[in-house]
Amino acid sequence: MPLTCSHLSVSYGRRRALSGFSLSMEKGEIRALIGPNGSGKSTALQALAGLIASSEGRAEIEGVSVASMSRRAIAKKLAFLPQQPVAPDEMTVAQLVRQGRFPHVGLFRSYGRKDEEAIAWALESTGLTGLAGRTLQELSGGERQRAWISAALAQEAAILLLDEPTSFLDIGYQVEVLDLVHRLSRERGVTIVMAIHDINQAIAVSDRISLLEKGELRFDGAPKALSESGLVEKTFRVKGTFVEVAPGKPPHFDVELTKLNRSGP
Ligand SMILES: Nc1ncnc2c1ncn2[C@@H]1O[C@H](COP(=O)(O)OP(=O)(O)OP(=O)(O)O)[C@@H](O)[C@H]1O
Ligand SMILES: [Mg+2]
Repeated sequence: MPLTCSHLSVSYGRRRALSGFSLSMEKGEIRALIGPNGSGKSTALQALAGLIASSEGRAEIEGVSVASMSRRAIAKKLAFLPQQPVAPDEMTVAQLVRQGRFPHVGLFRSYGRKDEEAIAWALESTGLTGLAGRTLQELSGGERQRAWISAALAQEAAILLLDEPTSFLDIGYQVEVLDLVHRLSRERGVTIVMAIHDINQAIAVSDRISLLEKGELRFDGAPKALSESGLVEKTFRVKGTFVEVAPGKPPHFDVELTKLNRSGP
């Protein structure tokens, strides 16, 4: 198993943010992590990436405890795109994406052909080749998000953790990023865990879904089973129906916008 965790609990001071979270990823599987704001999605991803320590349980990459691995050893296997990544504004897109190759290149070795190819591919895949020379502060929010996705891709890790990778993107790029995620999984066997708010995108792109609420795992299973569970309506406190779009296609969650049914301007 490329990535697993069992009974993982994380607290910030006295506040428990994640309780007994378990996950088991097959190679090439796409997993969507969904749940209300503050339900523990980012915390779970950070714990899987070895960035925050768990008070109980453990995360493992290929059977090795993440807590026992160096940052560089983790980075060779796993790329993590945080929800709010930070970099100096004066850094260019090309520099940011080159940084993604760091675990392969190290301090003293220079970039080889394989590194340059990975960088070019990462820029191309996110539609950023033409913007490579721009600084991050000269980009729109969505372009900046694509630059970070590009840096994560350049790392060419077998495991990819993405924290809301489409939150700032227009619908065209949202579809493009989800399509890229799908291709990475199917063509390259990349194992992907992605926190995402759009239920329909989660259902469309993922093999399995984990639903968190208040730090606890409420559901772990196939998208269709989630749609039949009634848990989406209950957890997010909305009314809605899962609609069959076409035979063999994943159902579509049609949320009722009753609170918007106001009369007149
Ligand atoms: N650095 C921190 N210090 C203290 N509490 C934190 C910290 N980060 C998160 N929390 C708290 O932990 C809980 C889980 O937060 P987390 O960021 O994992 O949620 P999330 O599901 O990713 O939410 P969102 O959808 O808003 O991104 C929340 O109650 C949050 O307030
Ligand atoms: Mg989050």
